[in-house]
Amino acid sequence: MSILKDKNILLGITAGIAAYKSASLVRLFIKAGANVKVVMTPASKDFITPLTLSTLSKNPVCSSFVDEEHDGEVWNNHVDLGLWADYFVIAPATANTMAKMANGVCDNILLATYLSAKCPVYFAPAMDLDMYKHESTKTSFEKLTSYGNKMIPAGTGELASGLVGEGRMAEPEDIVGFIEKDVLNQLPLRGKKVLITAGPTYEAIDPVRFIGNHSSGKMGFEIANAAANLGAEVILVTGPTHQKIEHSLVSVKPVVSAEDMYDEVHKHFKSSDIAILSAAVADYRPKTIANQKIKKKDTTFSIELEKTKDILKSLGEIKREQFLVGFALETNNELEHAKGKLKSKNLDLIVLNSLQDKGAGFGVSTNKVTFITSSNDIMEQPLKSKTEVAEDLLQQILKQLHA
Ligand code: CTP
Repeated sequence: MSILKDKNILLGITAGIAAYKSASLVRLFIKAGANVKVVMTPASKDFITPLTLSTLSKNPVCSSFVDEEHDGEVWNNHVDLGLWADYFVIAPATANTMAKMANGVCDNILLATYLSAKCPVYFAPAMDLDMYKHESTKTSFEKLTSYGNKMIPAGTGELASGLVGEGRMAEPEDIVGFIEKDVLNQLPLRGKKVLITAGPTYEAIDPVRFIGNHSSGKMGFEIANAAANLGAEVILVTGPTHQKIEHSLVSVKPVVSAEDMYDEVHKHFKSSDIAILSAAVADYRPKTIANQKIKKKDTTFSIELEKTKDILKSLGEIKREQFLVGFALETNNELEHAKGKLKSKNLDLIVLNSLQDKGAGFGVSTNKVTFITSSNDIMEQPLKSKTEVAEDLLQQILKQLHA
């Protein structure tokens, strides 16, 4: 999944022959899961039609200050367009438009949108080789980058004039790749490895039976998704679950028993920066596993159980720089029990789930949690979706890491 999924991308098109590639660019952004709107300079319509772009982007295209479809009676709001955008990508960016952008000229809707946009702006120059080399063009590049805009450099090759040199707009695939990489590099967990456990564990009794629990794994999967959306490389060690995740930064390691989970977690912990253990690990398992299916005989039947290894505690004992987060599911004396676990397992943060709260716990899509930090800050949260709880948890971790 692309990091641009669900992002709002405003594509600005100016009057260069490379505008014919804008159709592919819109398609690639849509394929990456982004929402796309297009704003054009009036002259760029000579190179590509608004109809093509509105069809591909599934949104109306804007090229003047007033809406021509409504006989010029409706104003196209450039401020709204700028506010809507998470990223403004001007491709192709002609020498003329860049010179105007560099000097605050705003005689068309694209330039007015640029001046009022608060989001990151990328521009992909396209022009003939001598124009590209001209001192005034270089001055535009310098000014625009000094304002914080990001330049996607032109490539070298055959140009529309027939000459060969620098000035070809970067290919649409390279523009998307450049932006994806840049967005990833800005994310707060870029370069960090986050280890997460999720779901239940199954402890075998015989070849067909096991002891398990009702954990759906949803909370852990949401945390994995939220961490990856912040740029982290995620290792998700999960017990048996129906949850699915598709994210290029998440690597799923399926396990079955507490022992398997312990081994898998220890393979990755040393190289991790953050570990979040949200799995509902069985505390006990059958002492022996029968080789054959156990036949019914007497009216009562007992299984001798032995303790499983406490994965979280074992990490607390060996942790060095890692930030360690545990969960506590409690039904009584919640705060006291959670604080006890935070201390005894040497955690930096514990997430308390109370089964007393309606809408919280197993199998539902909402959760009500309290964050308790190692410096005894207690933050009770309202009932939220598990997606929001996961995002809040990551923000809390970032806050503690940067404190
Ligand atoms: N946990 C673990 N390994 C286990 C048991 C629990 O890693 N064998 C982790 C869970 O993933 C959770 C935390 O420990 O992050 C707390 O689990 P919980 O079952 O609430 O606490 P326990 O320590 O098992 O204590 P108790 O069952 O007595 O409440």
